[in-house]
Amino acid sequence: MKYQLIAFDAYGTLFDVYSIGALAEKLFPGQGKALSVLWRDKQLEYTRLISLSDPQNPSGSKHYQSFWDVTIAALHYSCKQLGLNLTHEYETQLLGQHAKLSPFPESAEALQAIHAGGLKTCILSNGNLQMLSWAIDHSQLGNELDAVISVDEARQFKITPASYQLVLNHFPIPKNEVLFVSCNAWDIIGANWFGFDTFWVNRYQLPFEEIGLAPTHQGNDLNDLRQLLLS
Ligand code: LAC
Repeated sequence: MKYQLIAFDAYGTLFDVYSIGALAEKLFPGQGKALSVLWRDKQLEYTRLISLSDPQNPSGSKHYQSFWDVTIAALHYSCKQLGLNLTHEYETQLLGQHAKLSPFPESAEALQAIHAGGLKTCILSNGNLQMLSWAIDHSQLGNELDAVISVDEARQFKITPASYQLVLNHFPIPKNEVLFVSCNAWDIIGANWFGFDTFWVNRYQLPFEEIGLAPTHQGNDLNDLRQLLLS
């Protein structure tokens, strides 16, 4: 394998966002799935609005807000659109769940094996460092990561080239020696357009998007990644 560095997306890739749907269903019976899907979609839509608002600014978008603030704004919007009464108590519970997401069952072992196999590892996430550290501490993945990189540094979100460039700023290695790993097809497209090789974790057996390059590699979970890298 030609890779020196494996760069992971965080949410949906290492951390399971499903638990939010389960809590949302408990709080708003019959609407949990709708809320968790709309919340995630809105969260990502807001990141794209912000990144597109001021694309040429070398110090990032002047409309930048942290991913945590965007996450809160998206929750408020989603509840309004669905006509759900988001009490202070429910908001605290939902955001608390988002802050302490569990890893996928194989995340820790796969990451540990890849790291022990001599590869460098990092996260590149839209999440700001504070929210990433909540999730990393909760899942005890910290020792297996050589760096945790947030797009907060660039004040732009993925899929801007400046956000993927942060990986190379932290690890000055040839671009083609980075393998970028994500469960999100849009993130795979962005990383591919930037010039990284990619591994798409297709956990939900989805078709790949109809634009962009196909992923360089794909598998069903992080064990498939581990097998690709270490066999
Ligand atoms: C991340 C989210 C968007 O960047 O998946 O971690």
